[in-house]
Amino acid sequence: PDRRPGLAHRDQTLPRLTEVGAWRSKSQIGSYEEKPATFEFGRYGGFYTQDEIREVVAYAAERHITVIPEIEMPGHSLAALTAYPWLGCVNNPESYEIAGWICGPGNVLCPGKESTFEFLENVLDEVLALFPSKLIHIGDGGAEGQPPRWEACPDCQARIAAEGLHDETQLQSYLTHRIDSYLASKGRQLIGWDEIMEGGLSPEAVVMSWRGTQGGIAAAREHHHVVMTPGQYLYFDKRGTDSPDEPVSLNLSLPLEKIYGYDPAGGLSEEEQQYLLGVQANLWTEYIATWPHAEYMLLPRLSALAEVGWSLDRKDYAGYLHRVRRLARIYDACGYNYARHIFGE
Ligand code: ACM
Ligand code: ZN
Repeated sequence: PDRRPGLAHRDQTLPRLTEVGAWRSKSQIGSYEEKPATFEFGRYGGFYTQDEIREVVAYAAERHITVIPEIEMPGHSLAALTAYPWLGCVNNPESYEIAGWICGPGNVLCPGKESTFEFLENVLDEVLALFPSKLIHIGDGGAEGQPPRWEACPDCQARIAAEGLHDETQLQSYLTHRIDSYLASKGRQLIGWDEIMEGGLSPEAVVMSWRGTQGGIAAAREHHHVVMTPGQYLYFDKRGTDSPDEPVSLNLSLPLEKIYGYDPAGGLSEEEQQYLLGVQANLWTEYIATWPHAEYMLLPRLSALAEVGWSLDRKDYAGYLHRVRRLARIYDACGYNYARHIFGE
């Protein structure tokens, strides 16, 4: 009964994801912490066509880089819910509106309905056809505030009863396990943010540790591969200094020296370190509308990230500062907009 027309096709199956889901009607212009928030109104957004994605993947492959796509489920799904409200526990278009700020908690798909899984498998089929990556990222597990919706939903409660689950956290884990099996059946492997550990980690899953380092350490101890990307060291959407001249960003600063000092192997025994795949920095771009602004947030920080990943216990901040000043000459030659003041210029 909850099958929807159109989902059987494997190509361009879900046009409203781009027609509706790719566009917001307002954008927060003050900092995330500012209350009340201030907005600029106007349509903002965009998306990649399949041809553009193929071009990105090919460009990266020529440089020995694999692009890992990330499709959020069941949380952080407000754009999909706005496009297709039947994906939610509450099937009412007025319940969903694409956020004009960093997408908050509670915007979850309904794992009680089979149509949700049919949707996710259709989306993943399109994604798998475009991205050869073995790892496929499923986003946030969704633990950020889902229980109230799932608790009130007859479909979710029926699923919990039918599957013998204890609670809503296990319902999230049920979804992750099902998607893990689906990806495995296609020869791929699931990677997700550390929330996917809640309610029991799927056997083959790889964990990205963002809520600090503890999730990654715990996953490595359970012999799961991990990528360390802790927010307090590697979220490059945070401002580089406390200067009032910094562009609007999260109201937290992340100095270069702190990035450089991060030890991704910290807290892991030698045996556990074999599960450490590496590090990732994140540049979420809610506040970043232009390429020069992105360069400003990324450079020279990416060079510190490279040493974090490659140098481990051979790091030396004074030596790095010397090297990064030379690197900056290459930035200058390329015309990059790097943050020269964060290493003292
Ligand atoms: C995340 O920043 N929510 C992974
Ligand atoms: Zn539900």
